[in-house]
Amino acid sequence: MTTKKATRKKTVKKRPAAKRKSAAAKSEPPAQTPRAQVTLTTLSNMKKRGKKFACLTAYDACISELECLAGIDLILVGDSLGMVLQGHDSTLPVTMNDMIYHTTCVRRGNRGAMLMADLPFMSYASEAQSLENAAALMQVGAQIVKLEGGAWLAESTRLLAERGIPVCAHMGLTPQSINRLGGFRVQGRNPAKAEKMISEAKILEEAGASILLLECVPVSLAKAITEALRIPVIGIGAGPDTDAQIMVVHDMLGITPPSIRLPRFVKNFLPESTNGIQGAISAYVEAVKSGAFPAPEHCY
Ligand code: KIV
Repeated sequence: MTTKKATRKKTVKKRPAAKRKSAAAKSEPPAQTPRAQVTLTTLSNMKKRGKKFACLTAYDACISELECLAGIDLILVGDSLGMVLQGHDSTLPVTMNDMIYHTTCVRRGNRGAMLMADLPFMSYASEAQSLENAAALMQVGAQIVKLEGGAWLAESTRLLAERGIPVCAHMGLTPQSINRLGGFRVQGRNPAKAEKMISEAKILEEAGASILLLECVPVSLAKAITEALRIPVIGIGAGPDTDAQIMVVHDMLGITPPSIRLPRFVKNFLPESTNGIQGAISAYVEAVKSGAFPAPEHCY
């Protein structure tokens, strides 16, 4: 039987191998080595071996995929989206629906990084609320949820952890409490407050937290907490001694209007890149892993 396919096959002229190869190279994306999924075990082993890991926020699929291509270990769908995407002056207006939408988008671009999502303001005020809302984020692809606060979160942390939901506790400057803190300022500067933060971090680790994130604290305090805990500690404005660093991706790419005053710990990596956004993210990952970032001028 003569099929159309067979007829066509007979008439196709074979092109030289080199030409075939260059045509293929033009039409196909470069082959990527698939990356093993980053898990809590991966991060915990990195802490044990003294290897730094790199984290960034993302709010959409494209940035999420570019971050993965650059080798990012953990992506946070941060409620900072209320400020950088929505234009609010705090994270308080962010809703569960916002977090579910952006976590869904980021998950589609994710290629193996650990995916963390923030529980927004007032979504974990009670234990029952924390369980219901954390479950909703896990069901759209989060692999760990982040809650802001200290020892008062111990029971919710235990409840989530026992039900299979990993928790990252966010301490130091907790932007959802901005009205109580009286502004975006360094936390734990006096010895009594520093001691309290160390003991509350231990309580949360004991309750089952899998990661601690420290924002805007003095270098010496971040070092003491990182050394006191077995779980990995991610820092932002917390100096070079934490197990990992995180930054808001807009800050790292210099997407900042002149009306916004950036904190000292922010560094724009775009000017260092010869390959646009992709190169800037790679430069950030490399600087975190080598320990070159943060430098003294980014610390308190
Ligand atoms: O929401 C966020 O982006 C954060 C980072 C600042 C750590 O919590």
